[in-house]
Amino acid sequence: MSLLSGGFGMARWGFGWALLLLLLLLLALWRPGAACPELCTCTGARISCVDAKHSIMAFPMLQSEAEMENITDIYIANQSSFKSINEKDLDSYRNLRNLTVTNTRLAYISRQAFQSNPKLQYLNLKENILSNLSWRTFRHLNISYLLLAGNPLQCICENVWLKQWRGEEAEDLLCVEEGGKRTALSTLTLPNCVLPTVTLKPTKVTMQKGLNVTLMCNTSGTPTPTLNWTTCKLNSKNEHEHSGQMSELRLVNVSSLDNGCKITCRSENMVGEAEASVDLDILFPPVISKLMDAVSDHHWCIPFSMSGNPEPKLSWLLNGKPVEEGPFIRTMIHDYSEGEYHGCLHLDSPTHINNGKYTLLASNKYGEDRKAVFAHFMHEPWNESVTDPLYYDDTPIGQTEDKVAVYLVVGIAAVTFTGFILMLVILKFGRNSKFGIKGFVLFHNVPVEIVAR
Ligand SMILES: *[C@@H]1O[C@H](CO)[C@@H](O)[C@H](O)[C@H]1NC(C)=O
Ligand SMILES: *[C@@H]1O[C@H](CO)[C@@H](O)[C@H](O)[C@H]1NC(C)=O
Ligand SMILES: *[C@@H]1O[C@H](CO)[C@@H](O)[C@H](O)[C@H]1NC(C)=O
Ligand SMILES: *[C@@H]1O[C@H](CO)[C@@H](O)[C@H](O)[C@H]1NC(C)=O
Ligand SMILES: *[C@@H]1O[C@H](CO)[C@@H](O)[C@H](O)[C@H]1NC(C)=O
Ligand SMILES: *[C@@H]1O[C@H](CO)[C@@H](O)[C@H](O)[C@H]1NC(C)=O
Ligand SMILES: *[C@@H]1O[C@H](CO)[C@@H](O)[C@H](O)[C@H]1NC(C)=O
Ligand SMILES: *[C@@H]1O[C@H](CO)[C@@H](O)[C@H](O)[C@H]1NC(C)=O
Ligand SMILES: *[C@@H]1O[C@H](CO)[C@@H](O)[C@H](O)[C@H]1NC(C)=O
Ligand SMILES: *[C@@H]1O[C@H](CO)[C@@H](O)[C@H](O)[C@H]1NC(C)=O
Repeated sequence: MSLLSGGFGMARWGFGWALLLLLLLLLALWRPGAACPELCTCTGARISCVDAKHSIMAFPMLQSEAEMENITDIYIANQSSFKSINEKDLDSYRNLRNLTVTNTRLAYISRQAFQSNPKLQYLNLKENILSNLSWRTFRHLNISYLLLAGNPLQCICENVWLKQWRGEEAEDLLCVEEGGKRTALSTLTLPNCVLPTVTLKPTKVTMQKGLNVTLMCNTSGTPTPTLNWTTCKLNSKNEHEHSGQMSELRLVNVSSLDNGCKITCRSENMVGEAEASVDLDILFPPVISKLMDAVSDHHWCIPFSMSGNPEPKLSWLLNGKPVEEGPFIRTMIHDYSEGEYHGCLHLDSPTHINNGKYTLLASNKYGEDRKAVFAHFMHEPWNESVTDPLYYDDTPIGQTEDKVAVYLVVGIAAVTFTGFILMLVILKFGRNSKFGIKGFVLFHNVPVEIVAR
């Protein structure tokens, strides 16, 4: 063995020990279930509390938020002191999917109980003492299973929404009438307990900007529903007025920025909800908000942004003369966002004959707009009087700097890689004394005797 490989061997041993120590340390720190609350058991992503002798009173809490975020399943059964699910109880269990609370004294569930549990899918509440449950508790959820059998649900309007419940697992739920008689909830009909309907007028809003419009929302249903408007962030001045089953939303001097805005009228009562909406179609003349210097990517592009409804027709002038579009020069719209069309005049390998003043014309039946920009792609080849390196070839200055940076990085990488290979060779050959002498001499020019000693 050469001195050198001996040295490296020692280093490897040291490293091995360190790794082992680290592993031991990690093992000592990691104790499974260390944070599981008393009276419950925790396995993986599941907490289960089923000890009938020692009942929990509220949802168990784990030591850290991070641990609670890992829980997908909570199972609580046979707990005689468990009575309610309150607003904040499940806040930290953000990834909860399955919740079972069965055979407990659960009588109350807050409307905000599952506010922080958007992934909740399976909810088993069998064999508790719930007398009513609001649909609003579940409005933001996508529940596939809601099991409620074995609860003294009352035959009241508040529970009638359960009739329409179309869970994957259909249950024949019973409800308790005032005298104590049990009736199938599915056949229950109550007076003054009607799902809301809603009508929104007009059903289409197509108008010129600057005008006024009034939207009328009319609802029916008992108990009397509440009406509510939801809109995009409106730029137009707006006010709403409410009277009984009617609500009016008035937009004054409608802004073109509200084109495409969705306006929804929502009506709800304890039986359920209904909504109707309309999209604003606001007509306005073209506005070119941007027309910029030509940039070179794969092609040359003169970028622009413009708006207008209906979509404006576009044409170009070069030095006052119409530009013929074709395979080498054409207008393209790349995307429509935030009420504006964004696009380019594409030029394929432009030459000096394409230099000049480009004017963009945008027009629709409400008016037109125009803007101009100078584009200089290449000098006339015979004109030696100017030297403008920026436009002489297709490489803008920024790219040249980028190239230098790339060369630098590649250079550093190459040097590092060579060093790495060198080390590998030394290691490999150093281990084998036969080659160790050769390898060492070869790479370092050190006399053989010193190495072999
Ligand atoms: C949460 O689960 C992930 C993956 O199962 C695990 O890596 C992580 O350590 C867990 N976090 C806590 C705090 O238990
Ligand atoms: C709950 O108690 C019932 C009867 O006392 C028993 O049959 C059932 O297995 C218990 N459930 C659990 C999960 O322990
Ligand atoms: C959650 O409930 C669903 C539906 O019963 C079941 O298929 C799934 O295995 C449950 N998930 C866990 C982790 O228990
Ligand atoms: C619903 O149940 C809760 C808890 O038992 C009770 O306080 C409330 O009065 C009930 N609501 C109706 C409309 O019966
Ligand atoms: C709701 O759940 C169903 C199946 O459980 C799924 O197919 C659907 O995509 C979910 N919808 C949303 C909005 O999460
Ligand atoms: C729009 O309403 C405002 C305020 O009510 C009024 O001053 C204006 O004349 C109305 N505009 C039109 C075009 O009716
Ligand atoms: C509102 O709707 C109800 C029923 O849908 C209808 O009877 C009533 O006439 C409507 N009222 C108005 C002002 O449109
Ligand atoms: C109406 O909507 C607003 C905003 O979305 C909300 O804050 C308010 O609580 C809603 N009112 C009703 C009665 O639903
Ligand atoms: C309507 O709004 C525009 C801006 O959106 C404003 O310039 C104009 O003065 C407004 N007109 C009236 C009558 O308020
Ligand atoms: C050469 O280019 C300059 C600057 O662009 C211009 O002013 C001049 O007229 C050109 N000369 C000829 C002969 O085109």
